[in-house]
Amino acid sequence: MREFKDFLHLVRTRRSIRRFKKEKIPKNLLDGILEAGRWAPSGLNNQPWRFKILGGKEKDDLANFTKYSSIVKSADKVILVFLDKNSSYHYQKDLMAIGACIENMLLYIHWQGWGGCWLGEILNRREEVNKFLGLKDNLELCGVIALGKPYRKISKGKRYKLSKLLL
Ligand SMILES: Cc1cc2nc3c(=O)[nH]c(=O)nc-3n(C[C@H](O)[C@H](O)[C@H](O)COP(=O)(O)O)c2cc1C
Repeated sequence: MREFKDFLHLVRTRRSIRRFKKEKIPKNLLDGILEAGRWAPSGLNNQPWRFKILGGKEKDDLANFTKYSSIVKSADKVILVFLDKNSSYHYQKDLMAIGACIENMLLYIHWQGWGGCWLGEILNRREEVNKFLGLKDNLELCGVIALGKPYRKISKGKRYKLSKLLL
C-alpha cells in the first residue's frame, strides 16, 4: 500500500483515473470499497444508496451508454451507485448523501493504491441503463465509479485558492 503522510496528503493526491492496467481487482479490495461507501453519513441515517458491480462483457456493454466508453472499457470493474427512491426522504439531501458515499469510496480506492473515476455523463441515459440491467424505476442511477490499477503515474491536480472560495 502507498504511504500517505497524513489525511490531507491522501485527499490532495487523489485524481480521476481514466486509463487502467489489465490488473484484476481483488475481492477484498471490492469489499473494502463498499464498506467505505456504506459508512457514509446520510440524512436521518436512511442510507439510500444501492450498488451494482459490473465486470467483463456486461461492463463493456454498459460503455455504450456514455461518451466516456473508453474509461469504462479500460476499467476492470465499475460500481454503479443508485438512489433507492423507496427509501428517500428528501431528494436533495439524499443526493448529497450519495455524493458522500461515492467520495468515501474514491478515497478508499486511492488509499489502497488503486484508481477510480467518478462518471456522471452516463446519467443522461439512466433510463436506458436501468432497462439494460433489468432494474425497476425506484432505482435512480446517480453515479458510476470506473475502477482499476492506474496505467500511469498520478498527475498533479488543480484547485482554486482558498481566498477565492471564502465569502
Ligand atoms: C459529479 C461528477 C461527475 C463527473 N463526471 C465525469 C465524467 O462523466 N467523465 C469524466 O471523465 N470525469 C468525470 N468526473 C471527474 C471530474 O472531471 C474530476 O473530478 C475533476 O476534473 C477534478 O479532477 P480530479 O478528480 O482528478 O481531481 C466527474 C466528477 C464528478 C464529481
